[in-house]
Amino acid sequence: MRLLVINGPNLNLLGRREPELYGTDTLYDIEIMLTKKFPDLKFEFYQSNSEGVLVDYLQKGMSRAFDGVILNAGAYTHNSYALRDAVAALKIPVIELHLSNVYAREEFRRRSVIAPVCRGIIAGFGAQSYELAVRALLNIVQK
Ligand code: DQA
Repeated sequence: MRLLVINGPNLNLLGRREPELYGTDTLYDIEIMLTKKFPDLKFEFYQSNSEGVLVDYLQKGMSRAFDGVILNAGAYTHNSYALRDAVAALKIPVIELHLSNVYAREEFRRRSVIAPVCRGIIAGFGAQSYELAVRALLNIVQK
């Protein structure tokens, strides 16, 4: 099984960015954690601060090579129709992910324009959200 893990704007700063909200693990720590916990899976990890580049990464999911996508679109979650359309074009399951519980924060974070075209959402479990998203995809794909 091959998974795309795509992270959006400011997530390259994980570990240093508002650690009280997002934790102290870096994005690299999270990637290492996933590869160790799921040694049989093949991951491709991408991060960009640019919306168009994130669309390009999502379009990699059009290829038959991938079985699922985990997407933390950062603040683009709340306003990017381009990312929503890119997700809608995919035939493989996409999990929207957040480290923080976006529903317990500012009003603008409670709306996701991407969630309606995702298979599901995982939010609020810090770095562990990524592990839970992989487990969710494993359940879906192996059925
Ligand atoms: C986030 C939540 C978003 O609202 C925020 O803009 C982020 C991170 C999260 O992982 O909790 O950049 O996606």
